[in-house]
Amino acid sequence: MEHFTLPHIKNHKHSKLLSYIEDTPELMVSRKNDHIRICQTEKIESDGTPFAKFRFIPEALPEIDFDEINLEQSFLNNTFSMPVLVTGMTGGIEKGQEINEAIALAAEKYNIPMGLGSQKMMIKDPKFKRLFDVRKIAPKLFVIGNIGAVSLNYGITLDDIQRLVDDLELGAFAIHLNALQECIQPEGERNFFQLLKKIENIAKNLSVPLIVKEVGSGISAETFKKLVSVGVSAVDVGGKGGTSWSAIEGLRADREGQRLGDLFKDWGLTTDDSLLSCSGLKNNLQYNVPLIATGGIRNGLQVAKAVAVGATMVGVGLPLFKAAVSPQAGETPLESVERELSFFKKSLSITMFCAGAQNLSQLSSRIVQEVP
Ligand SMILES: Cc1cc2nc3c(=O)[nH]c(=O)nc-3n(C[C@H](O)[C@H](O)[C@H](O)COP(=O)(O)O)c2cc1C
Repeated sequence: MEHFTLPHIKNHKHSKLLSYIEDTPELMVSRKNDHIRICQTEKIESDGTPFAKFRFIPEALPEIDFDEINLEQSFLNNTFSMPVLVTGMTGGIEKGQEINEAIALAAEKYNIPMGLGSQKMMIKDPKFKRLFDVRKIAPKLFVIGNIGAVSLNYGITLDDIQRLVDDLELGAFAIHLNALQECIQPEGERNFFQLLKKIENIAKNLSVPLIVKEVGSGISAETFKKLVSVGVSAVDVGGKGGTSWSAIEGLRADREGQRLGDLFKDWGLTTDDSLLSCSGLKNNLQYNVPLIATGGIRNGLQVAKAVAVGATMVGVGLPLFKAAVSPQAGETPLESVERELSFFKKSLSITMFCAGAQNLSQLSSRIVQEVP
């Protein structure tokens, strides 16, 4: 197991239990490069296959034309060609820009939304804008900005976020919740005190819809209710079953951090359990906001299952990241990302055809949960 070292930095003894290192743009660049190397080369997914406990009832006589299957989905007042979005990943470093550009061009071609990775460094230093600016190559792409919620307790304001929205012509903005990651990350920021109020301020005053997302530990029904009650427009449950930030940060940490990262690698609610507990509340109109299911979704069959049990959109991260950084021989990163999106689209269409669903809203009546 390769161990990644941090550059020489001053270690402020700020917390009694976990050491605190002040986060700087240099450190952010180094961290993002580490994340790319680790995600490219190490096994960093938590255990489990999301939605394995669900099956579709096969329809042997579908009586629909495969070519007439409609995958379109409405989300945040836009219509997308399928219920898949590229979940926020990179940006802010040269390698991240290449990845973002391949993903942006493919996402624009497929008419699906694309999330950017955390833009904290762009707020701290506008020179990083160039490395996030996918709008210049993809004028029609629906782009979702990104920042960690905890940054709102470390000086980042509504005005900073509004500036990101304006500068990059973002269609929506995502705030990520990543308490576990911040604990394992050597330079993690861990003061989450009264963040809900600050999220409310952003939700109520930002010019575009606010999404709140977890990054691998899932969102419980109680947390979902709190987020909806302060005006959040959509929630990404970001459950366990895919990329594990505990595992990734463990690989960047010292020996104790590695042990902690391993210990918490499988922490959290699975993507399906989290989605089910939140979507169960949607009968109450007050909680009827779009849900995004992210975390371990690797094909269109899982996309169909997630939609059938209440997701409006499904977020895909690692497979598209890997397609962009490790294209097959003779392929460009763009062709590689397009090939992966084509696999998602075809496997979603085949699932719908063989379950007898002509459109996404018909999927929910075709799914069953297996009794263990
Ligand atoms: C290389 C990489 C970088 C990521 N960076 C961010 C980030 O900056 N902000 C964020 O909210 N999520 C980030 N994520 C998490 C993803 O948005 C997503 O929640 C997670 O990868 C789970 O989806 P997956 O299992 O399909 O990868 C990142 C994921 C990867 C693989």
